[in-house]
Amino acid sequence: MKLIKLNTPSQLVIGDGSLAQFFEDFGKSGHQRLFILSIPVIRPLIENYILKLEEDGIAVQINEQIAAEPSFAEVEQILDEAKTFGADAVAGIGGGSVLDAAKFIAAQLQNTQTTAEIIGIGNLQGRSTYLACLPTTAGTGSEVSPNAIFLDTTDNEKKGVISPFLMPDAAYVDPLLTVGVPPAVTAFTGIDAFTHCLEAYINRFAHPVVDRFALEGMKLIYKNLKKAYDHGDDLEARAAVALGSVYGGMCLGPVNTAAVHALAYPLGSKYKIAHGLSNAVMLPYVLEYNLPAAVDRFSDIAQALGLNGYTYKEDSAKAAIWAIKEWIVSMNIPLKLSALSIPETELEDIAASALKVQRLLRNNVREITFDDALDIYKRAF
Ligand SMILES: NC(=O)c1ccc[n+]([C@@H]2O[C@H](COP(=O)([O-])OP(=O)(O)OC[C@H]3O[C@@H](n4cnc5c(N)ncnc54)[C@H](O)[C@@H]3O)[C@@H](O)[C@H]2O)c1
Repeated sequence: MKLIKLNTPSQLVIGDGSLAQFFEDFGKSGHQRLFILSIPVIRPLIENYILKLEEDGIAVQINEQIAAEPSFAEVEQILDEAKTFGADAVAGIGGGSVLDAAKFIAAQLQNTQTTAEIIGIGNLQGRSTYLACLPTTAGTGSEVSPNAIFLDTTDNEKKGVISPFLMPDAAYVDPLLTVGVPPAVTAFTGIDAFTHCLEAYINRFAHPVVDRFALEGMKLIYKNLKKAYDHGDDLEARAAVALGSVYGGMCLGPVNTAAVHALAYPLGSKYKIAHGLSNAVMLPYVLEYNLPAAVDRFSDIAQALGLNGYTYKEDSAKAAIWAIKEWIVSMNIPLKLSALSIPETELEDIAASALKVQRLLRNNVREITFDDALDIYKRAF
């Protein structure tokens, strides 16, 4: 068996009430100055817990400036604020954008490396500030991944800081935090989580351990996301998708994603299309491209999705892709780049940009050249 290293947070708390558990644990942790990154919509849910920490003598500062998908420049500014505050602990309570920012800030508070020096795989040399992540979308799985992704405004590309030091000390996954996520964001972020699982399963570096997370995650999300989209207060569906998102995050460190994410990135960096939506739109087209290289694996996915009764693997593999397409459309996501106001004349530039994401393209089961990428974008247009 291939060797695999699995990193997880030292403490992973999952279930209703995890939010309260975080504040209880934090109060006992001995840290004195907590810097929280969050979003305004979450404030009413955390206000009382913060007051309690302050009554107990712990200083708390909150930053709620990150709207969505921050750049390195934005998080560097917030880092200055955390430094001035003298934080000895950082918590991210938000979607992937907030969690990634919290990871960056916790890592850089005491670090002498510059941002440019930590971009890439394994370049960050350490992290000495405590870090907790509490996802409010389901989601990126960032709370259990070693990744943090930002826009580099110098060349308008999305880039990752990938390091085991970005694995939070603790993750608290409270599905109740996701109840207020609007339907469209529920759909985008859920399909992102599904894609993490799928791309880890159909991957040159797939591994039997991660395969279990991937299949279970796809099953949970496929079965429950539409329910959570239709009825945001369906707690069972929210919990299932939140759990699926954790499984998706656990796929990211050891195996990671592939061409769907690589081809989705430029849509985010160049046209500000939300990360999950970019993935959702590209997903069927990349799967169709990958199909000949992974018929058996697509057929396994068909079974995980409950699509049984096919005699031939080719047929069940195709059925899986067809079902995923229908599922995405059922949540009112357009499967056309033209519907996202992306100009056809830009497709070559977009393909050139995607080709730079070799850290993910090298995971893809089928090689993708510039012409292949362009062809995939043309079919998606
Ligand atoms: N680190 C990783 O492993 C990893 C993995 C995948 C994606 N990412 C990154 O994460 C970012 C995307 O994160 P995301 O998809 O979670 O979206 P997001 O964090 O950008 O949030 C999307 C929107 O939903 C809102 N929102 C979040 N939680 C809410 C709630 N409970 N109620 C109401 N509104 C809420 C946010 O304010 C925002 O407007 C991208 O930058 C992407 O590159 C990171």
